[in-house]
Amino acid sequence: MSEPVLAETAAPAGMLADLRAGLSLPQKELPPKYFYDVRGSELFEEITRLPEYYLTRTERGLLERWMPEWAAALRPRALVELGAGSAVKTRIVLDAMAEAGAAEVYVPVDVSAEFLADTAARLQAEYPSLRVVPAVADISEEFELPGGLPGPMLVAFLGSTIGNFAPAGAAALLRQVRGAMQPGDRFLMGVDLRKDPARIEAAYNDSRGVTAEFNRNMLRVLNREAGADFDADAFEHRAFYDPAEHRIEMHLVAPGAQTVRVPGVGEVRLAAGESIRTEISCKHDRASVAVLFAAAGLAVERWQTDDEGLYALVLGAPAE
Ligand code: TRP
Repeated sequence: MSEPVLAETAAPAGMLADLRAGLSLPQKELPPKYFYDVRGSELFEEITRLPEYYLTRTERGLLERWMPEWAAALRPRALVELGAGSAVKTRIVLDAMAEAGAAEVYVPVDVSAEFLADTAARLQAEYPSLRVVPAVADISEEFELPGGLPGPMLVAFLGSTIGNFAPAGAAALLRQVRGAMQPGDRFLMGVDLRKDPARIEAAYNDSRGVTAEFNRNMLRVLNREAGADFDADAFEHRAFYDPAEHRIEMHLVAPGAQTVRVPGVGEVRLAAGESIRTEISCKHDRASVAVLFAAAGLAVERWQTDDEGLYALVLGAPAE
């Protein structure tokens, strides 16, 4: 039997196109979806437990506080979750739906088929009478939500993932969600709010360096999957808040000049101090969410924040 031949270009076409486009911009950038291999997902789980990362625990508190009431009012029969996250928050929503007497179908939507299969199997085991219908989709592109679900449907988009989209992309995503909604359906969103930049910067630059490791993990993913030769350890993590754009940016900084070889892309040169942007996380307030919603044909029906005003849980309804 002959040895398998390794193609010169190891990257799947989409990844290659992303690398080509992102690394030829004046401000180099790479799409955040490449953070998440198994190690990346583990590091992210660790981020959500960091003392500085207030987002996850604040959102959980808000879900526990408000979901029973909101589910009782809506009695949703189907839950569609964009970016199937940790089972913890899903369980809070499903339990509230079950308590209200109406948890029939759960549709986790995620870009990773493998992660999705895990989530679906785990939830199915925990909720034997629930119909679990996983859907593979990249919500950063055009996507279809499965049709024919029993209504009312609740579409959940938690974890402040909306912030990882610039306003135009966020509006496009919400328009797609709105397009799949009937008048009685609702959209549940968790969103991180504008606040003291120091507090935000600490959340993305933790003292134990977990976020830095998470950031560098993207280069390891690209080395493995695209055959690139980034010296991941040589890049420094930088996260800073841009008050004009109301967003935190995460970068990987090359401390010294380097040349990276990316098969199918060529040689990519980085000057000393030059950076690759790997993530943005836009921070919102009630007005900016109302604007985003309006652009998508949604209206804010409920808005609740924690006592410190760090984070909001929002319920959106189709606008008239
Ligand atoms: N959406 C969350 C946020 O913006 C989670 C997240 C996405 C994140 N990418 C990240 C957290 C990178 C830390 C670092 O905070």
